[in-house]
Amino acid sequence: MIRKGGGRWAARILLFLFLLGAGLLYAGCGGDGAAAPVENPALAVTPPRPLLRWMGPAFVRPVDRELVARCGKEVGMAIELLPAPANPVDRLGLYRQFLPAESDDIDLIDFDVVWSGTLAPHLLDLNPHLTAEERGLYFPVYLENNSVGEALVGLPQMGDVGLLYYRTDLLEKYGFEGPPETWSELEEMAAAIQAGERSENAEFWGYVWQGNVYEGLTVNALEWQASMGGGLIVDADGRLAFDDVAARALDRAAAWVGEISPEAVTVFQEEDARWMFQNGNAAFMRNWPYAYGLGQAEDSPVRDRFDVTRMPRGEGEEGRHAGVVGGQQLGVSRYSRYPDAAADAARCLTDAASQRRRALADGTPPAIPALYDDEDLQARIPAAAQIAESLAEHAVARPAATTGGHYTEISLVYFIEVNRVLTGEQDGASAVARVAEQIAAWVE
Ligand code: GLC
Repeated sequence: MIRKGGGRWAARILLFLFLLGAGLLYAGCGGDGAAAPVENPALAVTPPRPLLRWMGPAFVRPVDRELVARCGKEVGMAIELLPAPANPVDRLGLYRQFLPAESDDIDLIDFDVVWSGTLAPHLLDLNPHLTAEERGLYFPVYLENNSVGEALVGLPQMGDVGLLYYRTDLLEKYGFEGPPETWSELEEMAAAIQAGERSENAEFWGYVWQGNVYEGLTVNALEWQASMGGGLIVDADGRLAFDDVAARALDRAAAWVGEISPEAVTVFQEEDARWMFQNGNAAFMRNWPYAYGLGQAEDSPVRDRFDVTRMPRGEGEEGRHAGVVGGQQLGVSRYSRYPDAAADAARCLTDAASQRRRALADGTPPAIPALYDDEDLQARIPAAAQIAESLAEHAVARPAATTGGHYTEISLVYFIEVNRVLTGEQDGASAVARVAEQIAAWVE
């Protein structure tokens, strides 16, 4: 109670300032005044009620307004879209201010898969609001990711999973029958294609991925570890699951740097990798499904010259294909004045009709397996079959729900130490030991 009073006002002021800033930005950009969610910032903190307020997508598209209108009608309450920070770190920072202050200013909250555990104390358990059948709609990996203890704290709005992109024309040119099944095959093909292409293109590399010091490196490194039979830092019971398999996986990836991957891969994020691949300067790339549509753009140099498949598996019996899942979830604030209506809205905004509509409008892959059988969706998302396969069979969730709210800190320690392996400052065993030591306080 004590914390609530002062903290709540501080958080409201912060939220107000953010919304005010966003409102001015809209105005300053000459944005569409009628469409801008906050016209008068003074009204932002005390909206006319009843109204549900959704801190949703950072870039609001026509389809978002369409879904808001449909679901508002369905739950019998208008849903207002609030401007949201585009940078995920800023967004989490804002949530970490107004949620602990128990602010009721926001009802519906978008969050990245990795924040389920961090935000769980402030999110409503959606289990009682959904039938078993409604829960069964989504790929199980998202329910696993969003279940913190007994509570289901969010519903997936989209499917996102690691995929291997490969150049079909180059595979053919160098006599390879299909994409690599294992990491050894990838290493071999990448080296052969790179050696051949270098005679004409000095900029050409075999394999590009995300090695920068950020969350995307945690994603890549967990895929290496999981695919080679290693643990995911922390297991389902919150215990340390980090071993010599992980150490070997990190050493193996470090050996790619400067050989089949550019030195600069240690500062690459998604867009850097996509840039190289799409410009025709790489044979293979690890990326999310979004890169497919862009690679197929009319002016793309690799248009109709690439495809995607599941990520390679490690060798031996322990080896498996592993694609880390990502994407935006939708949760309901525990401090909402209208928890039932907000939960109904969350269900509606993520149901099959909404995800189908979104997929057809902008090509976002759904988090609902049944939709992948839809022919219109397959026409809109050409990689639908591979995305569905990876989400159903090779999906790996980061330990967001099992780290007691400490995922962000654990991932930070992990990607810093992993990056130091990639740059040759330490070996995999040293990274494993250092991570284990630094996260000891948060794991059992
Ligand atoms: C994508 C994923 C997200 C992940 C991020 C890492 O945006 O959807 O879950 O954390 O990439 O770079």
